[in-house]
Amino acid sequence: MTTLRLGINIDHVATLRNARGGTHPCPIQAAIMAASAGADSITAHLREDRRHIRDRDIERLRTEVGKPLNLEMAATEEMLAIALKTRPHAVCLVPEKRAELTTEGGLNVLAVEHSLKQYVAKLQDNGSRVSLFIDPSPEQIKAAARIGARAIELHTGTYAEHPDDPKHLTALANAATQAAALGIEVHAGHGLDYNNVPAIAAIPEIVELNIGHFLIGDAVFVGLDKAVKRMRRIMNEART
Ligand code: PXP
Repeated sequence: MTTLRLGINIDHVATLRNARGGTHPCPIQAAIMAASAGADSITAHLREDRRHIRDRDIERLRTEVGKPLNLEMAATEEMLAIALKTRPHAVCLVPEKRAELTTEGGLNVLAVEHSLKQYVAKLQDNGSRVSLFIDPSPEQIKAAARIGARAIELHTGTYAEHPDDPKHLTALANAATQAAALGIEVHAGHGLDYNNVPAIAAIPEIVELNIGHFLIGDAVFVGLDKAVKRMRRIMNEART
């Protein structure tokens, strides 16, 4: 089976830093620690309101960590300019609402197919692999293929909220199979923790998971190094 990469989302280290307006705890230091604990990439969401990650963090994550940066962002002109200039390894396009606590649902690719196609092409021509954060919907996956996105990230939030309802896991597994058959790389993330990650890690077409909130929270108790290593071990065991 293909190996499963782990991307660590360090947004909430920045949330904690910003709570006091200073420089501690530093998300770049967290990214370096996560990388040395076994993370394959670092994910950071530069939100329009800059509530956690800031522009300077993105520049530093790109140059100081030594692991691929996955920049999550809304498909706006402001973010396009930043991504073209920073040239992260990867860009994950997400829907963004100002008042939401976290990314609430997947991108509606169908609704903006024409404009998104050009947007994605600009980023991919500039050397960034683009993924679209979408719900496990067959129509959204077909639209993602039509616009030429190299990857999708399946939103696992509904599955994570309803761990005992098998239909959500089935929808994710079917979506992964469909996307892989269309030649799209499949990622997944949102709401994953030690308990719900094995079933997702066992889906063979999924090659990358992006995990943040739970791990940063567990790091408060056990440290980031141990939290990342434990997640990595659980993922690896589920994969084999
Ligand atoms: N992937 C995407 C596209 C996200 O928006 C988020 C949340 O920022 C995550 C993964 C990580 O989700 P969580 O913080 O719940 O692990």
